[in-house]
Amino acid sequence: MHLSTILLTALPVLTSSFELIPAVFTPFTEDGSIDYPKIEPYFTFLKEQQNISTVFISGTNGESLSLSLEERKRLTDEWAQTSSNVIVMVSSESIVDSVELSSYVKTVSETNSNIISVAAMSSSFFKPSTAQDLVDYLKPMAEAAAPLPFRYYHIPSMTGVSIDMIEFQDLVEDQIDTFVGIKYTDTDLFTLRKLILNKGEGVEHFWGKDEILITGIATGATSAVGSTYNFMGRTGYDIVNAFLTADLPSAQSQQDKIVNVVSSWGNLGGIPAQKAIMQMVGMDLGRGVRTPNRALTDEEYDDLEEKLKEVGFFD
Ligand SMILES: *[C@@H]1O[C@H](CO)[C@@H](O)[C@H](O)[C@H]1NC(C)=O
Repeated sequence: MHLSTILLTALPVLTSSFELIPAVFTPFTEDGSIDYPKIEPYFTFLKEQQNISTVFISGTNGESLSLSLEERKRLTDEWAQTSSNVIVMVSSESIVDSVELSSYVKTVSETNSNIISVAAMSSSFFKPSTAQDLVDYLKPMAEAAAPLPFRYYHIPSMTGVSIDMIEFQDLVEDQIDTFVGIKYTDTDLFTLRKLILNKGEGVEHFWGKDEILITGIATGATSAVGSTYNFMGRTGYDIVNAFLTADLPSAQSQQDKIVNVVSSWGNLGGIPAQKAIMQMVGMDLGRGVRTPNRALTDEEYDDLEEKLKEVGFFD
């Protein structure tokens, strides 16, 4: 069998509905408060320059756990005013705040159809120790947001929570009516594939590792959420579309562009480095981040720009 035939038959799930969803940054002013007026031009930039229609707000890139509840409510309002489809990450370390935000998002969604879903990750200071504990932790948020669809945001590199995902999937499907899928931010492809096989094709799996998007698609993810689609949305779609036409060499060379960009920032910190990149591509969100993240110095900014030039990012 020809390679392209193998690829096409091996990928029944991949359709043109595979969507790239940027996890958006939170713009800050010089004094460290949120620069809300930036949100509208930010979405226009995403839509027009990056071919984006759905955003994931208040997640890791949005520095959500460094924001106050009031700020996250206002961000929800502001993003809902743009013409984007909005997924709101609602969890924080306080279940009280998490439930309040869930219920706030639900209320906004009653008069604003741009809000399409909520997502929540595990707490990370006190950690659930079993799959059932995790479901019990998520349930009040899902219930407060219902009937909005609920997604679990799996990011063990940050939360340190890596419980048995198959057991979790079985329990969450049974116990949370609004559960629709997992935002899977991990490199363990074997487990991702087992999750897909466990529930068949109905359950969504959002892939969360941009630098290996190609492997997420190949393994059966149904869409992807990530940071680089903020400024490499079109490259991401080139990867997706190369897969759709079974053009593996092209998918790989497009993937290399993301690999090179992600490698360029080394250990500068993904969020401050990418905020600098947003500035370089003409969408100034401010360079500021919330402590303990640290903004790039001018020298680091220039070095990064130089490295990005070397890998052809601006070509
Ligand atoms: C733009 O996004 C749509 C999905 O919303 C996708 O089907 C299409 O291929 C993308 N176009 C380009 C040129 O990347």
